[in-house]
Amino acid sequence: MQVILVGLPGAGKGTQAERIQSEYGIPHISTGDMFRKAVASGSPLGLELKAYLDSGRLVPDETTIAVVRERLLESDAANGFLLDGFPRTLEQARALDAMLHELNRPLDVVLYIHVDPGVLKERLTGRRICKSCGATYHMVFQPPKVAGVCDKCGGELYQRADDTEEAVATRLEQFKQTAPLIEYYDQRGLLRQIDGEQPIDKVHADVVAALAPFK
Ligand code: AP5
Ligand code: ZN
Repeated sequence: MQVILVGLPGAGKGTQAERIQSEYGIPHISTGDMFRKAVASGSPLGLELKAYLDSGRLVPDETTIAVVRERLLESDAANGFLLDGFPRTLEQARALDAMLHELNRPLDVVLYIHVDPGVLKERLTGRRICKSCGATYHMVFQPPKVAGVCDKCGGELYQRADDTEEAVATRLEQFKQTAPLIEYYDQRGLLRQIDGEQPIDKVHADVVAALAPFK
């Protein structure tokens, strides 16, 4: 199953992807997670990316496309994948089409998790992430059992550097480059819109229903 998740920053892409990955046994490929790992490792790629990530600007297409190309060739992606946060521009979408054509792996569905931008500030400023396993929490909507500690692995929770008010505003502005993808995939009959303003479990049920034909 080849799936793309699209949505505004904070729409719930990562939250839903975590669950789908474990239930469907396909890898969750998040360009944001890969870039944050590179930054944390202090690698040359990470040093190049840090300013983009911290400010909320998009990483240049050429770099992003190269990272995804390499990742899709890894063996765990051979039976399907869930792309989260890629593609984000028309150039990335066209490059992905070419990659999947080469691999003879057509896309099954593009899930657009739709939310009003008004709900995002609270979601993003309340988000906390596990340093060890990457699990996502929210102080109000999805709190851990013990404050500051991951339920799954006991790891320490932290706040992302781009979950500040200023970077969130830039990230919302950058979504203008991603919005044309909605029509791009809709015209090909691949788009399914999910109401992302419902409680997390209800969003999940809608995601599972949208994926059912492709399981
Ligand atoms: P990335 O990591 O992709 O960030 P994003 O798109 O801004 O998305 P988020 O991870 O912030 O949100 P999400 O939709 O996953 O929400 P979540 O599930 O966590 O990208 C980061 C940066 O990397 C970019 O700014 C850019 O610099 C770079 N980058 C990445 N990909 C790139 C690309 N392709 N090209 C160029 N640059 C790229 O949920 C948010 C919070 O809300 C959580 O706390 C969660 O618990 C809570 N929540 C989730 N669902 C609900 C719900 N239904 N109700 C209530 N609360 C909820
Ligand atoms: Zn954890």
